[in-house]
Amino acid sequence: MNTLHRIDGHLHLEDVALDSLAERFGTPLYVYSRAALEAACRAYANAFAATPHLICYAVKANSSLAILNLFARLGTGFDIVSGGELARVLAAGGDPGKVVFSGVGKSAAEMRAALEAGILCFNVESESELHRLSRVAGELGRTAPVSLRVNPDVDARTHPYISTGLRQNKFGVPIAQAHALYRLAASLPHLAIVGIDCHIGSQLTDLSPLADAADRVLALVDALAADGIALDHIDLGGGIGIRYRDETPPDLAAYGRVLAQKFMGRRETLLLEPGRSLVGNAGLLLTRVEYLKPGEEKNFAIVDAAMNDLMRPALYEAFHEIVAVNERNMPARRYDVVGPICETGDFIGFARDLTIEEGDLLAILSAGAYGMSMASNYNSRPRAAEALIDKNKIHLIRERETLVTMMVGERLID
Ligand code: LLP
Repeated sequence: MNTLHRIDGHLHLEDVALDSLAERFGTPLYVYSRAALEAACRAYANAFAATPHLICYAVKANSSLAILNLFARLGTGFDIVSGGELARVLAAGGDPGKVVFSGVGKSAAEMRAALEAGILCFNVESESELHRLSRVAGELGRTAPVSLRVNPDVDARTHPYISTGLRQNKFGVPIAQAHALYRLAASLPHLAIVGIDCHIGSQLTDLSPLADAADRVLALVDALAADGIALDHIDLGGGIGIRYRDETPPDLAAYGRVLAQKFMGRRETLLLEPGRSLVGNAGLLLTRVEYLKPGEEKNFAIVDAAMNDLMRPALYEAFHEIVAVNERNMPARRYDVVGPICETGDFIGFARDLTIEEGDLLAILSAGAYGMSMASNYNSRPRAAEALIDKNKIHLIRERETLVTMMVGERLID
C-alpha cells in the first residue's frame, strides 16, 4: 500500500495518522485511501488503453456505497451477482447500462429488477437459466441482453475455493457445449445475444491461464461468427492477484499488451471484471490489542478484530501483513494474533514478530477486498465502521453497527 507511510514512527494513510482515527471512531475500523482506489482504476485505464474496453468492478470485493460511488464517478461499470448488489450500484449512482449480472443462481425477481433497471448484460450460466430469463423478459415485454459464461477448463493455479474455471467447478457452461447453447439462445423469443463471458478464478499470480482462457474464448467467438452469431463484447472476468506477502502479481501493463494483441482488428469490446486488484491494497483494518497472553508454547495477542470482521485468514488461511501503528523502542516478540471469537479458527495471523503492549494499535494490511463485504455478526459482534481518507480529509463512510441496528427485524414469539 503505497499511500501508507510513517512519520516519526506513526503510521499514516495519506495525510492522516491512524491512531487519531482509532481515537475518533473506535476499532475495529476499516480505512481506505481514495488516492489508492483512484490509482488502481487509472492503472486499468492505462494498461488497456489500446483496446476498446469497459472495466466492470466486481462489487462483491467491496460493496460499500462510497466506494461504488467513487468508481461510478470514474466511469467504471459494475459486475453484480445479486439483486442486493444491483440495488447498491443504483443507490451509489452507478450507470445500469454498464452493469453485467453474473452468478449461477439468479432468481426470477432478481432478473426482473435487472431488466427494469436496463442492465448491459446477463452472464447466463446454464440452459435452464436461458429459459427462465426468456420467460421473465417476455412477461415484462422486454428483451434480455445475454452472454453465456463459458467454462474454459483451464487451471488458474490458485486456492481451490476461489478457482472457478475448471470442469469440476459449478460455474459456467462447458465450452464444448456453448455453441449449441448459443443457437438455443438465438432461438428463444425474448433474448438478444450480445456477448460472451468467462472468469477462471481469483488471486491469480500468473498470466498464462488468463491468456489460455482468452484464446479458447476467442476461438469460440470466431466459430460463432462463422455461424452468423456476432457478439458485441467479450468479457474475460476478473482475477488479477495482488501482493499480500511475497507474491509477484501479474503486471497489468503486460496483460494489457497480451490482450491488445489478441483484440487487434476485432470488432468486439473487451470487458473485464476486476475486484480485488481495484480495492485490495487500498484498505486496511485497524484493531486494538486487548490482551497479551503468554502461553506455554506461544504468545497470543488478542485483538478486538475477529474472523467476523475479516474472514479470509479463517476461511482460506490467507496471509495479511500485520504492523504496529506506533513504533516502540523495545525488542519484538512473536505472537499469534487472534480475535475474541470462541473458536480456534478465529485468527488473523500466526507467528508475527511485533513490538507491542496492551492497548496498542495494529494495522492489518491489504484488507480492502473481501474484508468488510464478507463481515458477519457471528458471536453477536456489531460490524465495524469504515472510513475513507482523502489527503487530510476524513470521511466516515459507514457508521459502526449498534446493538440496536444489529437486532433490527428480529421478533419474539407470542
Ligand atoms: N467476476 C466473477 C464472476 C467472480 O466470481 C469474481 C470473484 C470476480 C469477477 C472478481 O474476481 P477478483 O478480481 O476479485 O479476483 N472471497 C475470496 C475471493 C472470491 C472471489 C469470487 N469471485 C477471497 O477473499 O479471496
